[in-house]
Amino acid sequence: MKKQLQDVFKGFSKLSREERLKALREVGALQDSDIDYLSKGGLRDTSLGEKFIENVIGYFQMPLGVATNFRIDGKDFVIPMAVEETSIVAAVCKSAKWIRESGSITTEVVGSDIIGQIQIAKVKSFADFEKQILSQKNYMIEIANREVAFGLVRRGGGVRDIQVRRVPRGDGTDMAVVHVLMDPCDAMGANIMNQVCEYLKEPIEQFTGEKVTMCILSNLVDTKVTRAVVHIKDIDPVLAEKIEEASLFAQQDPYRAATNNKGVLNGIDPVLVATGNDWRAVEAGIHAYACRDGQYRSITRWYRDNGGLTGVFEAPLVVGTVGGVTALHPTAMLCMKMLGTSSANELSRVIAAVGLVQNLGALKALTTVGIIEGHMKLHTKNLALGAGAEEREIPMVQKKLEEILAIRKRISLSNAIDVLKELRAGQMSVTSSTATSSSTHQHS
Ligand code: MEV
Repeated sequence: MKKQLQDVFKGFSKLSREERLKALREVGALQDSDIDYLSKGGLRDTSLGEKFIENVIGYFQMPLGVATNFRIDGKDFVIPMAVEETSIVAAVCKSAKWIRESGSITTEVVGSDIIGQIQIAKVKSFADFEKQILSQKNYMIEIANREVAFGLVRRGGGVRDIQVRRVPRGDGTDMAVVHVLMDPCDAMGANIMNQVCEYLKEPIEQFTGEKVTMCILSNLVDTKVTRAVVHIKDIDPVLAEKIEEASLFAQQDPYRAATNNKGVLNGIDPVLVATGNDWRAVEAGIHAYACRDGQYRSITRWYRDNGGLTGVFEAPLVVGTVGGVTALHPTAMLCMKMLGTSSANELSRVIAAVGLVQNLGALKALTTVGIIEGHMKLHTKNLALGAGAEEREIPMVQKKLEEILAIRKRISLSNAIDVLKELRAGQMSVTSSTATSSSTHQHS
């Protein structure tokens, strides 16, 4: 009988890489061919890279891990994360476990349409322009769907609406901006939206006698917003209050909001990268949405709720599961298969959940043990590597750095360099059997 995901995730971080791959095969998340591909180092054939970008000289390798313990809307997931920063994966797994044991994650996507923009920089009469566009709106929707977005229409999507916005030029006059609203189904939709906007340029100029300046999609997709809600029951009231206070800080102060949102993106970006999605587009949308009322604020909110704690993430998070790199890059395809999401909306909901859970882990660490204990401890390995330690020396250097950290509450690369010097000079009294780092293995 196939094992349950949660069974293989018990102690997952303590397994060797080979054992992790085997465990994922046992639950059907990976197949032999995937294991073979990953074991051989993933994508090597640069001819695919040549198809993606220009001036290719090779691939940039990024560690690929999996987030464990996630149950989202009652469904278990193996979530791929491609990221270089120590402790992100460990922290998110630990928080997901906490929620799994004493709470829930629910998600939804509100709205379906992405936005394309057509700018008329110097409009002779905004009122006339708006009238003409609105009178031709249904016709323009019809031709855009018939001539450009027909594939989307077949799949239940396509252009849904055309709107006109007045945008001040800053000199007392206005520009006109046409918004095209389109349901991209399971595509991210950038290419098709840009084609629709460029196709509409000519009819717009004909109907209005105005000159179109430029066309491009908008990443501020406030017409399609992903929400994730985490609820934890029976939390220590002191901790709940601290997290609520930390959340208020990020709501009210843009300096803190930027760092808070970076922590949310610590969860979001690695899944976007692993699934071949455009993380720059999502980041741009999230940051723009974060200042929709004029001040840059946190995109998450935590509050005490009936003896528990509730957290909410809400922002545009437009991703695709068809087209683009998602369906071309073999590692992205493998990750998509492992994740097993059935639609772009489900992928977006999972990613929002990971961002929110990552944020919870950061806020809990920051309001209790602090970032040094929670984050830098896991950084000791990087410092050891940075100091030039060899594989067999790393555990000993780490152990000594952890000792220094416990006493001085600070560690740096120069500590690691000194420790390594001492070790090599035979002046260090840590044995390798006691020097195994424990901090990276606390989450599963
Ligand atoms: C570090 O990568 C992320 C944090 O700074 C996020 C936060 O401050 O909320 C820990």
